[in-house]
Amino acid sequence: MAIKPFIKWSGSKRSQAPEIIAYFPEDIRVYYEPFLGSGAILGHLRPTKAVCGDVNAPLIGLWKTIQENPEQISRDYEKKWSQLQKEGHTYFYKIRDRFNKEQSPLDFLFLTRTCVNGLIRYNKQGEFNNSLHHTRKGIQPSRLEQIVEEWSEIVQGHKFLAQGYELTTKNATPQDFIYLDPPYFNTGTRYFGTIDYEKFIDYLDSLNKRGLRYALSYDGKRGEESYVVQLPKHLYKRHIMLHSGNSTFGKVQNKKVEKVYESLYLNY
Ligand SMILES: C[S@@+](CC[C@H](N)C(=O)[O-])C[C@H]1O[C@@H](n2cnc3c(N)ncnc32)[C@H](O)[C@@H]1O
Repeated sequence: MAIKPFIKWSGSKRSQAPEIIAYFPEDIRVYYEPFLGSGAILGHLRPTKAVCGDVNAPLIGLWKTIQENPEQISRDYEKKWSQLQKEGHTYFYKIRDRFNKEQSPLDFLFLTRTCVNGLIRYNKQGEFNNSLHHTRKGIQPSRLEQIVEEWSEIVQGHKFLAQGYELTTKNATPQDFIYLDPPYFNTGTRYFGTIDYEKFIDYLDSLNKRGLRYALSYDGKRGEESYVVQLPKHLYKRHIMLHSGNSTFGKVQNKKVEKVYESLYLNY
């Protein structure tokens, strides 16, 4: 059953999750997800044992709190949300300034749930810089509480690590499985953290040498535009193009629907 994300995340694999998972092997001992983001795949797959990582430390802080103390998240959000309704935008910017100094996971969640379109956006200095969504109130506290409780059950027993992808899969074995969803290499600062292409290719090579199985979401195609970056052929066995929906951007701008495709590379 699909679970709603507790946080909106650009590049979330929510709509493609069932299609992607259909290609995963069935015999997974430990599931590894080193580019976790909002965990759309984790939430669909629901493995018994998982090791998850992301370089975004406040995000991983949130995952840990969901696991250990979900009530704290609900209480905190409710308090902030009520204050926002009373004080208005000055409250939002107060929390945003504090977050940019202290990086609290709970402040992070509040900002992402009340900012314009829930977009997590940073400036060049790495500061969160999206504004308050004036015409929307932000998710209702009771609704968020329900979502967080569901997630809390799913993530019991898993490991959450705030670190780079290489470290997260350090102890993986051939009985395990790794799902990789790095930020697109050509999207600049849209995501938190950047990936060095050469290093990433070496990393995939090292996974092959260690006999580890992986699935990689890597690039895509929208209408006539292709974001397909050729991955060296020796790194994978199958390349699948998944139809991941229609682009609304295309719809609004040109009054035509553009099909969006995403690549999935499998080394097994
Ligand atoms: C495309 S998003 C993953 C989205 C995720 N599949 C979901 O459904 O929400 C890529 C993620 O990689 C993280 N990231 C960027 N550089 C990283 C690195 N060097 N190591 C680990 N994670 C990184 C970003 O913070 C971001 O959450």
